[in-house]
Amino acid sequence: MTSEGKYADIMQDPLFIQESDEVYRNPTEVKMSQIVLPCHANHCGELSVGQLLKWMDSTACLSAERHAGCSCVTASVDDILFEHTIGVGNVVNIIAKVNRAFTSSMEVGIVVNCEDLYADRQWKVCHAFATFVARRTGAGKVQLKQVPPRTQMEQMEYSLAAERRRMRLIHAETITDLLNSSTAQLGECQEYQDAVPAERTRVESVELVLPPHANHQVSTFGGQIMAWMENVATIAASRLCNAHPTLRSIDMFHFRGPSHIGDRLVLKAIVNNTFKQSMEVGVCAEAYKGGEPLRHINSAFMTFEVLDSDRKPCTVPRIRPEPVDGKRRYQEAVARRKIRLDRKYILSCKQAEVPVSVPWEPSNQMYLSFNNVTALKLMDTRNNWVLTSEKNKVRLYTLEENHMLCFKVEMNVSVAAEQTFHLLSDLRRRKEWDPVYEECEYINQADEEDTLYRVATPSVSKRGNGQDFILLASRRIPCDARDPYLIALRSVTLPTHPPTEDYTRGEVLCAGFTIWEESSTVTKITYYNQATPGVLPYISTDIAGLSSSFSSTFSACSHFLEANKDSPAALPLSALTHSMASLQVDQKHQQEGLA
Ligand code: COA
Ligand code: ADP
Repeated sequence: MTSEGKYADIMQDPLFIQESDEVYRNPTEVKMSQIVLPCHANHCGELSVGQLLKWMDSTACLSAERHAGCSCVTASVDDILFEHTIGVGNVVNIIAKVNRAFTSSMEVGIVVNCEDLYADRQWKVCHAFATFVARRTGAGKVQLKQVPPRTQMEQMEYSLAAERRRMRLIHAETITDLLNSSTAQLGECQEYQDAVPAERTRVESVELVLPPHANHQVSTFGGQIMAWMENVATIAASRLCNAHPTLRSIDMFHFRGPSHIGDRLVLKAIVNNTFKQSMEVGVCAEAYKGGEPLRHINSAFMTFEVLDSDRKPCTVPRIRPEPVDGKRRYQEAVARRKIRLDRKYILSCKQAEVPVSVPWEPSNQMYLSFNNVTALKLMDTRNNWVLTSEKNKVRLYTLEENHMLCFKVEMNVSVAAEQTFHLLSDLRRRKEWDPVYEECEYINQADEEDTLYRVATPSVSKRGNGQDFILLASRRIPCDARDPYLIALRSVTLPTHPPTEDYTRGEVLCAGFTIWEESSTVTKITYYNQATPGVLPYISTDIAGLSSSFSSTFSACSHFLEANKDSPAALPLSALTHSMASLQVDQKHQQEGLA
């Protein structure tokens, strides 16, 4: 298991499954195995990350092209964390497969393992998600066919791919906003006597794009550009510490525009800031041909460490930034580091771990929302639910695993899916059907899709306190016809709403609704709730009582929805629809593709 937490599990699962007598293999899957030779390695005998990025990009591109049936280009590669270095003589095994196709783009999942042939041992090096875009034809944008998920794992990846795509497409804008707001609070850069002047680490290097660097369509391979970027970043990092640096992570790569054979690529790198045991190196890649102006191809931020002989990170020298741009980048590197650490913490929190609630702040909103939705999607794609009871057409399922009890309640209502989504999205109205929601206070609209509430529940004993919860509600409209409407709930902490004496502060790990359109008037609602280990012994002794209370609550929910099926929506969908507009695939085309 990796520090990327539960999402990495998905990538570790075997890509083969045995279905009856037939062995199923995902049709988009492509594998590459390479022996690491001295020509692939640096002077320390470790595989250069640039070479690895080239292999990863080629494997992923072949998988994308196998699905698309036409030539594809790398649009982006999400953040990558390298868990191990790879030595000369080891074998690198790369597996790539298309998780989901959207309109002209596809998410490709890539897993990299290292194999020691002589010790018969394998270990994971990293995983990545890359987006490839099918090249436009004379007829315009390509409409890709779907990748129907067949296994539970594929279903999970398919579902999560939509959420990762959403994050990818808002990434640049969100990071810019966060940098602007957080660097304003950082104040002046600190001056250190022994600091290394940043200009000493500056690198500029040019590359001529030749046929071996390009595909059959004469476009430069994304992997080649990433490799050149990694090369200059490594030189900048080495200049700071006068030692061999190890690349630990790369923030998202986004290829803003294409490059072709004959282009000159100018690669520039400098150390933006150093922290106790790591440094951030920024790299910028620009292209030109003849007297044409420079085209910005890519910018990336890479985190390096220097390891001692026991592979422990050493202290890194301080940096003195250059005036103006250098100082700005120095501060932005501090803000990016905070975003990275928040992200790592939030995405690596396993659901059984304490603390369940993470402090909510604008800087981690994007990842908390992502985490909230993906946790619900992961529950939604589980296929080992046990039907525990069925009453008044309300079905209760349970799933007990790793000291965790999850509930799923399923029912159909005769209300349109969009209206159901509206009515359930506004938690303030839940008290109209759920006796547990005694009070619900609206705290803050974090953004168009995320709202913070305080919910108070009644006391279960005469003299005891009631419980209260600070909840982040994240709602999503479907990305295409294979996605549900979704409302995810999880606990967060807020300094403005500390626990009080009158209530015991409770925590929700993961709860919420998925809302599927069965027809224009019938909607399937599924409610999920993951019980905390603390309440598990209490609940599991009384499943019968629980089943009866779920049945009456959800019958009340059904009446509430049907009574309000024509009422104007409480939360306007227009804003949400507008914010999702750039993420929406052409639904009509998509549905035709699915039919
Ligand atoms: N990450 C992931 N996907 C992205 C993206 C990003 N940062 N930016 C755009 N896309 C996706 C869009 O979502 C869209 O997908 P969809 O058709 O499934 O909805 C697709 O790219 C095309 O978007 P569109 O708006 O039609 O085009 P664009 O003008 O935004 O161009 C690229 C997108 C990727 C084609 C363009 O930026 C490009 O050519 N980049 C260089 C690619 C390249 O040559 N790479 C190799 C190394 S240079
Ligand atoms: P920004 O300056 O906002 O960080 P850029 O895309 O211009 O964004 O550059 C990305 C990174 O590339 C910078 O943070 C810096 O580390 C590096 N870089 C940019 N320009 C230069 C340069 N002229 N020399 C060395 N490094 C550079």
